[in-house]
Order: sequence, then C-alpha cells, then structure tokens
Amino acid sequence: MLKDKTILLGVTGSIAAYKIASLASMLVKQHAQVHVIMTQNATNFIHPTTFETLTGNKCLIDTFDRNFEFQVEHVSLAKKADIALVAPASANVIGKLAHGIADDMLTTTLLACKAPLLISPAMNTNMYENPIVQDNLRTLEKYGWKVITPATGYLACGDTGAGKMPEPETLYAHIEAEIACEKDLAGKRIVVTAGATQEALDPVRYLTNHSTGKMGYAIAKAAMLRGAQVTLVSGQTALTPPLFVQTVPILSAQDMFDALDDCFAQTDVLIMAAAVADYRPSEFVDHKIKKKEGDHVLELARTTDILGTLGPRKREGQFLCGFSMETENLLENSKAKLEKKHLDMIVANNLRTEGAGFGTDTNVVTLIRSDEMKELPLLSKDEVAHCILDEIAARM
Ligand code: CTP
Repeated sequence: MLKDKTILLGVTGSIAAYKIASLASMLVKQHAQVHVIMTQNATNFIHPTTFETLTGNKCLIDTFDRNFEFQVEHVSLAKKADIALVAPASANVIGKLAHGIADDMLTTTLLACKAPLLISPAMNTNMYENPIVQDNLRTLEKYGWKVITPATGYLACGDTGAGKMPEPETLYAHIEAEIACEKDLAGKRIVVTAGATQEALDPVRYLTNHSTGKMGYAIAKAAMLRGAQVTLVSGQTALTPPLFVQTVPILSAQDMFDALDDCFAQTDVLIMAAAVADYRPSEFVDHKIKKKEGDHVLELARTTDILGTLGPRKREGQFLCGFSMETENLLENSKAKLEKKHLDMIVANNLRTEGAGFGTDTNVVTLIRSDEMKELPLLSKDEVAHCILDEIAARM
C-alpha cells in the first residue's frame, strides 16, 4: 500500500540514527520511493552510503553540494514527497524547524514541504523535558506537525527516562497510518471482534476452537488505516494488536458480550469475526471434587448468541456484519444466519476450501447480503479485509 509513494526521511545527529537504516529498508521492501536527507551531524553516526545503498537514491546532506543538480533538487523533493518524517530529531533541529530557520538541506527542504510532516524527538531525558524543547514541539504541533511521543527506557547516555526514539516498526506504522489508504471511513466508529473465546471447565481446562484471530486483526488494521476509530474486542491470540486500535482483551463469550453491550449504542459498524465457542459447561467443576468422585459427566449449555441478541437492537444507520464457518450447505446456512441475526452482511467461508479458514494467511469468502452475493477469489486476509470494508463503506 506504500507502492510508489515518495517518502522523505530526515535524519539528524543522534545515536538512534542507525535505526533508520532498518526503516528505510522496510519502506523500500514495500516499493516506496525513499529519499534520505541527513544533517551534517548525523553523518557522525551513520554513513550516507548506507542509505544510498538501501534506497538507490542519493543521500542529500547540505545545500552547498558542489553538484548543482542537488542544490535545486530539494525543492522538487519537497514537492513530490507524500510524507516527511524527521527521525531521530535532535533538540537543535526541532528548535530550528519550530522557528523557521533553514540553514541546511534538511531544514530548507522541510520548510518547502506541504506533505504531512512527522517528527520523532530523540534525546537525553533532561533535554527532552526542558521547557524550551517542549515549547518548540508544541509550536510544531500548532503548525500541523505530528509529534511522535518518544518511548521511555534506557538511553545511550546511561539515563533511564523519556527521550528514546521508538523502534523502526513503530515509525513505519505511523507512516502507514498517515498515507497507506484513503480515509473513506473517517469519523466512523467500528468495533471488530476476533479470535476464539474460551469457556472454563475447571481451574485448569477450557473449551475453545481453532480460531487464530488473523482475519479479525486484519479487518481492525485495515479499518484503522482507512481512518475509522477502531475497537478490537479480542479473545486470546498469539498476534500483536495493531497500533492505533483500542484493544479490549476478553476470555469468555459472556466477557465479549459485556464488552460489546457497553459500546454497541455508540458503534456505527460491528464486525463479528470472532469464533465464539458455542458451548460452555452448565456448571463450573471444582478440579478436586472431580478427582475425588471419579468420572464426571459434563453438562453443556449454549453460550449467549451475541449477534443474535444485539441484532434486534440495531438502530437506524448501524451496520452489522457476521461471519459464518460452514462445512456444508455454505450459502443456504449463511443466508439463514444473516436473516436470523438481523445482519446487513455475512461473510461465508467454507472450511473445506483450500486456503480458507483458520490459521492461514489467505481466505476464500462469499459476501452475502439479503439481495446480493459476491464470491471473492483466493485472497490474502488483508485483501479480504479491504473487500469487506469496501462493501460497508459503499453503504455508510
Ligand atoms: N456468534 C455469536 N454468538 C455466538 C456464536 C456465534 O455472536 N454464541 C456469531 C459469530 O461471531 C459469527 C456468527 O454469529 O459472526 C455466526 O457464527 P456461527 O458459529 O457460524 O453460527 P452460530 O450462530 O454459532 O450457529 P451454529 O454454530 O449452530 O452453526
């Protein structure tokens, strides 16, 4: 999604500068056009050749380059950039940018740049907390810059505190969130459920299913990239929650219902991608009693039908989307669930189709609405997520 985007990275004199090599590499792997401008001080920490090798573009350093071609290039670079990120940003460069001082290639270019501007301060805690630096950061925010809050941790100077540049993966996520997608879901509140629920049998064991949460997590991330305000209600998974999504961890179907019940009235779109365990033990069995008494017959009760309960409470303008996992009669069974649960759309996936279902990175689904059916080919779960959101966005 960053293919052919032009990304300008400004690197200043801080030990964290070496980490920007990983960021540049991650962006290039996504087929972005990456241009790096360094301050003279930054060259003390990492050599421009590293960036030139990774990006295939000349790394620009000062405006008085002997080669005239690169003196004027900064303006065209400022014009063609889709986004600019200064990371790590030293107190010195933050001060210059906040006051319109343009005395080198980086500050000159940024002053001419109208693209979204991000800045990631990285310095000693006392410097970062200095009111002058804080004022300068507020000034940058006032002029539309987005300041990435530094992480807290062990700093190169030996102190522990705020001032650490976030890891390249986090910086990448900030760039992606800004420019990867058109914000066609801006202002929408979307709740996504994901993963498997668990029903405790006794203090040790539980009933669950094979869901890994990949589909729901892909939807939550895609909705966030498209500008929605996303809450992810998630059963236990091995996945890292996407950044900029509010994640609510839950265990049982009842926990999931309670979490949704709290926010349902304010939700514009609910997408139930979770595989809810259909049964729970009708009583919680004490492990010791069970051992003493020998065989114990487990009586099961159905868990609350979450969508079935929320569906009838749907208000005007709300969109409800469920999933169905079927091993036979896929379309008829899914359509019946669409109607029974008052859904606007159900995403049907056939567990018997290769590349579909639990644990895979791909899925084969049919999007079913009361008056329309759309069969999708084998796609990655990220692509399926966007197709589902396309359908929803077209109806919001
Ligand atoms: N679902 C739910 N509450 C449950 C079970 C399922 O809200 N207790 C949701 C699922 O998240 C999914 C949709 O209902 O979005 C269909 O789930 P599925 O398991 O296919 O259907 P069930 O209603 O559980 O019916 P059955 O298992 O009998 O096929």
